[in-house]
Amino acid sequence: MTDTALKPVLSIKDLTVFRGASKILDRVTLSLGQGETLALVGESGAGKSTIATAIMRLLDNAKVTGSAELAGEGDLLALTERQMVKLRGRRLSMIFQDAGAALNPAYTVGRQLSTTLYRTQGLSKVEARQKAVELFTSVGINDPEGRMSAFPHQLSGGMQQRVMVAIALAGSPDLLLADEPTSALDVTIQAQIVRLILTLTRERGASCIFVLHDLALASQACDRVVVLYAGQVVESGPAHDVLERHRHPYTHQLKSCVLEIGTKDLTAPEGTVPSHGQMPKGCRFSTRCPRVMARCTDEAPPLIPAREAMSGPLDHHIACWNPE
Ligand SMILES: Nc1ncnc2c1ncn2[C@@H]1O[C@H](COP(=O)(O)OP(=O)(O)OP(=O)(O)O)[C@@H](O)[C@H]1O
Ligand code: SF4
Ligand SMILES: [Mg+2]
Repeated sequence: MTDTALKPVLSIKDLTVFRGASKILDRVTLSLGQGETLALVGESGAGKSTIATAIMRLLDNAKVTGSAELAGEGDLLALTERQMVKLRGRRLSMIFQDAGAALNPAYTVGRQLSTTLYRTQGLSKVEARQKAVELFTSVGINDPEGRMSAFPHQLSGGMQQRVMVAIALAGSPDLLLADEPTSALDVTIQAQIVRLILTLTRERGASCIFVLHDLALASQACDRVVVLYAGQVVESGPAHDVLERHRHPYTHQLKSCVLEIGTKDLTAPEGTVPSHGQMPKGCRFSTRCPRVMARCTDEAPPLIPAREAMSGPLDHHIACWNPE
């Protein structure tokens, strides 16, 4: 797929989120093409979940500025809650990290899926049940008829996450937000669920934003990668470019960490992310960067095309004064 062939289904511009005096997200700008999968990667606290939750308009106690244009709907950040209720589940859905916590323990999983189908698709009870069994089959749940009457606690973590995938896809959304949907699962099940989500979204021609910790997995699984550091986009672009031709020193460090898997334990980049009260004035990565220069500590670098010939919103971009 070429960038020019992709019409943005979602276009986020200068998304900024404050919690009290802390700027949790700072002018996050990214675009997602129709049918594309985009990975958000970065260390814990980078703001990945905040982006997904802001798009869903589920952030509480936060001041949000900027825009998030969804094709055909306008700026999600400017819609009323009533308008958002109509879009959630139908145009955009979210799969949460912990399926056990997201499912309601008081209702069977069949009822929870049927209710979503009833609400988003206007099906009758009988039709919703039939469709629910079909969806359970498509997400690989064994004995889908029998599982309809199971309560969440009677299912394994992997099966619970498959139920969440079925619920998220029930309204045929064209944008799926998957917030580390596999981090509570063991490694073999993780790969299955990531593959399942990507296969099902691609079959449906939907777009997907995947929150992932692992840059290599993100690059293999997704079309585009956005690297976040301390609430800012530091590098974004086609997955292959970001993995193999990255120019930001932080992306380099993230990649080195991933390559150490198998030889020793997964390590984080050296040092720690500054706390929100102590963010450096210039580049937020300057306290850990091996390429830091005088300008970096004074002036925040803007997100610009990584190479001269590039200019489209879906091209490779970096924010760095002294890139590799
Ligand atoms: N409810 C909240 N109240 C105050 N601060 C919050 C809240 N939720 C998140 N934050 C802060 O916002 C920043 C971004 O958090 P976020 O959860 O988006 O990060 P993340 O990249 O998803 O991290 P992780 O990989 O650990 O899930 C962090 O500094 C976090 O402490
Ligand atoms: S702007 Fe400077 S400190 Fe920041 S990543 Fe680039 S070289 Fe490092
Ligand atoms: Mg998170």
